[in-house]
Amino acid sequence: MSRVRASPPSTVTEDRFLPAKRECVFDAGHHTRYSTSTMASFHDVDGTEDLAVIGQRLLDWYERHRRDLPWRRTRDPYAIWVAEIMLQQTRVETVLDYFERFMARFPTLADLAMASLDDVLKAWEGLGYYARARNLHKAARHVVGQDHSEMPRTPEALRHLPGIGRYTAAAVASIAFGYDAIALDGNLRRVLCRLFAIDDDPGRPNTQRTLETLAESMMPPGRAGDFNQALMDLGAMICVKTPRCLLCPVTDRCQAHNEGIQNALPIRATRTKRPHRDVTAGIIWNGDGHFLITQRPLDGMLGGLWEFPGGKRRPGEALPACLHREIHEELAIEIQIGELLCRVEHAFTHFYMTLYAFECNWLRGSPQLLGCTDLRWVTLDHVDTYAFPVADQKIISFLRDRQSGR
Ligand code: ADE
Repeated sequence: MSRVRASPPSTVTEDRFLPAKRECVFDAGHHTRYSTSTMASFHDVDGTEDLAVIGQRLLDWYERHRRDLPWRRTRDPYAIWVAEIMLQQTRVETVLDYFERFMARFPTLADLAMASLDDVLKAWEGLGYYARARNLHKAARHVVGQDHSEMPRTPEALRHLPGIGRYTAAAVASIAFGYDAIALDGNLRRVLCRLFAIDDDPGRPNTQRTLETLAESMMPPGRAGDFNQALMDLGAMICVKTPRCLLCPVTDRCQAHNEGIQNALPIRATRTKRPHRDVTAGIIWNGDGHFLITQRPLDGMLGGLWEFPGGKRRPGEALPACLHREIHEELAIEIQIGELLCRVEHAFTHFYMTLYAFECNWLRGSPQLLGCTDLRWVTLDHVDTYAFPVADQKIISFLRDRQSGR
């Protein structure tokens, strides 16, 4: 670690690394971090070798080693869009099945636009970050509602759609429409920080601009889609957390490798500890085999998903008291709380949760929509048509196991 220097001021970083377009500017006079011998390996004999050579090598490598992924077997911009939304913060391996099922269920943009939000959320159930599904659905309706019903093609126009930020706009525009744009995600940042031995926090906007400019200088014009995906595949298969430099097509051009600091890059910003929350949920039976489920408000976390009603425990509050209070506040009904059925641990991005599920009986009062969007009394046999968060699905599994005597 001692070989990685403390971050210099950002302006220094940018000056030091930004190349003039299509020219190699790693000039020993200006870039004191490189020894003369390092520079020799970076340039050809007369010093004119171009960053574009690295880009071309990455493309050649991609032709031979690219992963065969379902969204790479199509040129349908809608399919590529769906894939890129699913791939936000989610691993390729997880997305594979969801993508195939989603495309079978909603094969065209028009099919997605015509579907109900409940159906879309059901297809997304378990994939997490449900705002992505709500935004995708909203965006499909927006595009289909326009005169020509065609997807926007440029990053700028794509960014006007709900759920499409800088990264996804660049990914879709480059892969689906051949537009020259760099899709800089966490994996690309790791690869580029190593390739150029950048020891600044890759999450900082200044560093990201530097990385983007460097990537643009390497990118063979007109090939941004393949170039982005080549970097993604390099990041997924070779330039992983502990890099497999022996297999890398550009090791001899990698500054981190040349300096022996590839394992120390990128530097990690210190993360704040995720807090923990206790949450209660009631399985509220009505006496004839139905229990109550409620739909979460559309605009919040897990928006539009269904759940067992309940809520967050306040400091010092007993779990049953918490459940009584939440049920009263959200639904204005009286319940009797029975035994603790199960306890589910779940990690969200920003906090850890322990969910305590209690068996309950409905005593009196007609449920009101005070803290939820909708409600239903359902049986275990009919609960599957609703989309639930993963923690609530575990409670349903518990109820099923109990019913079948497991
Ligand atoms: N992650 C995000 N987009 C991707 C793509 N097109 N291929 C592989 N991994 C990705």
